[in-house]
Amino acid sequence: MRPAHIGAIAALEAAHFSAPWDEASIRAELENPLALWLAAVDESGAVLGYVGSQSCFEDADILNVCVAPEARRRGLAEALMRELETRLIPKGIEKITLEVRASNEPAIRLYEKLGYSQVGTRKNYYEKPREDALILQKSLLSES
Ligand SMILES: CC(C)(COP(=O)(O)OP(=O)(O)OC[C@H]1O[C@@H](n2cnc3c(N)ncnc32)[C@H](O)[C@@H]1OP(=O)(O)O)[C@@H](O)C(=O)NCCC(=O)NCCS
Repeated sequence: MRPAHIGAIAALEAAHFSAPWDEASIRAELENPLALWLAAVDESGAVLGYVGSQSCFEDADILNVCVAPEARRRGLAEALMRELETRLIPKGIEKITLEVRASNEPAIRLYEKLGYSQVGTRKNYYEKPREDALILQKSLLSES
C-alpha cells in the first residue's frame, strides 16, 4: 500500500464495513512497523482491493480484506491473502488470526479455501447489525 491508495481504500472501507477505518487511521499504518497492508491495483494504478494486517511476535491479525464489487470473483482476494502470507513468513510469523461475521458466506468460503479453520466465536462482536464473529486461524508453520 502506498499513500496514493489511501483515499480509495478508505472509500471501500466506508462502503463495505460497519466500523470503517478512516483515511487518517489507514495512513498511520504506513508508519506502523507492526503493520503490513497490500493493495491490488489495475494497469492505471486504481485500487481494486486490499488486505491489512498487524503482527505481534509470531502472531499476525488480518484486520480487513476487501475487493471492489466490480473486481470480485477473479481471484484477487485469494491473491492478496496468499501474497500477505508469503511476506509474513520471512518475518517469523507462525499464525494468522482473523474475525468474520457469521453470515459472511463469501469471506468464510475464501478463508476455508486458504486453509483457515474456526477456533472460537465472539458473541455480539459486530454492530450495525449486531452479529457474532467467527474467529478463524491458520498456521503458517507448514508453509515455510
Ligand atoms: C470476501 C471478498 C473479499 C472476496 O473477494 P474476491 O476477490 O471476490 O474473492 P476471490 O475471487 O479471490 O475468491 C476466492 C475464493 O473465495 C470464495 N468466494 C469468494 N466470493 C465468493 C462468493 N460470493 N460466494 C462463495 N464463495 C466465494 C471462493 O472459494 C473463491 O474460490 P473459487 O473462485 O475457486 O470458488 C469480497 O467478496 C469482498 O470484498 N466482500 C466485502 C468485504 C468483506 O466482507 N470482507 C471480508 C471481511 S472479514
